[in-house]
Order: sequence, then C-alpha cells, then structure tokens
Amino acid sequence: MLLDNWTTEQIRRKFADVFGHAPEIITFAPGRIEFLGNHTDYNGGPVLGAAINRGVWVAFARRADSRWRMASDYRQGVLHTVDVAAYEFVKQCGEAAWANYPLGVLSVLPAYGYSVPDGFNFLATSNLPVGSGLSSSAAIELASALAFIAVTGRHCPPDILAQIGRSAENDFVKVPCGILDQGVSAFGRSNHLVHIDCRHNQFEHVRLPTDVNFWIFNTHTKHALVDGLYAGRHSECRQAATLLGVATLADATFGQLEAVRSLMPEPVVKRALHVLGEIARVREAIASLAEGAVPRVGKLLTASHRSSQKLFENSSPELNMLVDSLVVIPGVYGARLTGGGFGGAVLALTGQDFQAVEARAVGVHYSHRFGAEPQILQLRSGEGARVLNKATHLR
Ligand code: GLA
Repeated sequence: MLLDNWTTEQIRRKFADVFGHAPEIITFAPGRIEFLGNHTDYNGGPVLGAAINRGVWVAFARRADSRWRMASDYRQGVLHTVDVAAYEFVKQCGEAAWANYPLGVLSVLPAYGYSVPDGFNFLATSNLPVGSGLSSSAAIELASALAFIAVTGRHCPPDILAQIGRSAENDFVKVPCGILDQGVSAFGRSNHLVHIDCRHNQFEHVRLPTDVNFWIFNTHTKHALVDGLYAGRHSECRQAATLLGVATLADATFGQLEAVRSLMPEPVVKRALHVLGEIARVREAIASLAEGAVPRVGKLLTASHRSSQKLFENSSPELNMLVDSLVVIPGVYGARLTGGGFGGAVLALTGQDFQAVEARAVGVHYSHRFGAEPQILQLRSGEGARVLNKATHLR
C-alpha cells in the first residue's frame, strides 16, 4: 500500500507484527528526482537532484543467533521474507532481488570501517513507486546502512553513507551507477536541490524558488533490457573518453570532440555530445537559479529531454508523449525524463497555475494513446537520510 506517509508508530507496529517484538531502530532515506544532468555522474560531471518527501523506512533489531531475517512489504504491500545465514553473501533473484540492496550494503561495510551485525531482524517499507525512476534502490541502501551503523552507536557522515550505497550497487548488485541517487538521498534538504560535483564527490545545496512545483508522471513502463542498456551507455561513454584521450568525459570540450568525431563511431559521438551538453546545462541552470530565472531553467530541462531523445537515445514513445503534452501547457516551465531512462517517469517543473486538474488532463490524453493512465504524483523536496527513532538503550 502506498500511504502518503508512515508514522514511526505504524512502522514499529508493522515490525512487531512480523517479528513479535519491537525494533531497536527506525531509519528513513528519501527517493530522489534527477532534476538535471542525465548520465553525467559516472562521467565525472555535475548533476542536480532533489530528495523528495517519499522514500524507504527500515526497522531493525539485532538477534541473538546468526540469522539475517529480512522482510519487505513494499512491492504491492505483500510481505516477502529472505532468511539467510549471517555472512552468506549470495545474490538473490526473482521476488527476493530487493534483498540484494541490504546484502550489498552488509558486504561493503567492513571496507568503510563499520562492523556487520551477527544476526538481525529487518523490515523495509516504502511509499515510493518501484521502477518509476525515483530511486527506491538508493533509498533502501541508505536506510539499511544507517540502521546497521547507528545500532552500534556509531555515526556515519552523509558523504560516506552515499559511498557505501554506491559501492553496494556497483560491487554487489553490479549496476555501474554513479553517485547521483545515493548522494541526493544522503544530502537532501527541503526547498533545495543537491548539486554534486561527481569528479570530486563534493556536495552543496542550491536554493529552489518557493513557488515552483515538481510533478512526476510515472509511465509504469520499463524497457526489458534496462540494466544492460544502462551498462551499454556507460561503456560507450568510456569508449568516447578513451578515444578523446581524457580520463572522464567531463574533461573533454566540444572542440576536442569536433576534432576527432570522424574517427569515432556515430553512436559514441552522440553519447558524448549528450553528456557534454548536459554538463553545460547543469552549469547554466545553477547560474539561472541564482538569478531567479525559472523559465530559463525550465527550457534547460526540456532541452535535456530533447538531447536524451536524439543523442543519448534513452527515451521512449511514452516519455516523449508526456513531455510533448506538458511543455505546451501554460504554467509548465519544462519537462524531461528523470533518471536512467528507457522508461520510468517524466518530471515537470511547474508554477502555481498548473494544478491537479491540468495534470489529470495530461494523464487522460496519455491514456487515449497508451491505454492506461500514468501515475501522477506531486512531490515536495525533502530532507536526506536519517535515524528517526532509537530504542532507549541506544540513546
Ligand atoms: C540512474 C543511476 C544514476 C545516474 C542516472 C542517470 O539513476 O543510478 O547514477 O547515472 O541513472 O543520470
């Protein structure tokens, strides 16, 4: 069930229903919107994201034996349990694949100087639509990591928390993602975007105007080969950097690319043009936000989508139709796919005169072509990953 918000008391009761006792700790990590900067993160570029007011809760308590019992009810509200011997780092598949995120976190904790609990009961609950491009995976990674660490009385700074989540994803789940999702989930702040300089792993906040809104149109579509397509784009970008003679694409200029483009395969040129364009757009958006030039920022968002469509080729007919319908509506500053692409969701940045009636009309128009309405969410920016509640013996 996707409740708008769970209270810690509700989470505590859910945990008690499953495990028969109270949790020692409850943590929360938000999902994120990719605001601007598509596939720039693993290319050493800048990116802008916003943590949102939805995410994943983890309730956790240590056990006396050496079993790791992990339950999640965030897929259609059905409880799914994975019970493994402690330190059995076997990758789960099918229905149990969600457990790879906490398992991945456990597998990398020692490398960051944190201990792994011997036995535990664990429950993850979410109000994020899964597979919508709002990064439920980073949210469960960070909420899990915080619970595993904070239960031992230790603190984890947000930059390390983000790196733990990314390592879990890269090294255990085997998705070669950048730091965007985990960085934004760790550093989120209400009414702000998180700006990440991905080359130096530096994080800062950029104030958002108070009179803009985020709308998400989740198509519920996902390309069957999405993981392979993501990894494929990643390797094309690496190939571009190698042919350009730079360590990461963020080190290259449009001039350098122009000089060697005849020697590069056409798709590789297009991927590089997209990434360099996105890097320029993120920089321009930061300057425009500082001047309060929201319409300009909106145009950059839409330009980002057009670049995804034509150059990075990570859009889809569903996403394109939503963007095309949105950008002609007064009150919509701009719209783009958010996240890795190949399905997922569109983000629209709007003013106050775009409200639920207008959003619904877009959904109905979409359903005439694709047979089902998109899920529509109005989201607020929110705070980053945090411990919500500790048992008294941990205080
Ligand atoms: C996914 C990845 C991120 C980033 C985006 C595309 O969300 O997890 O690291 O690469 O795609 O910008």
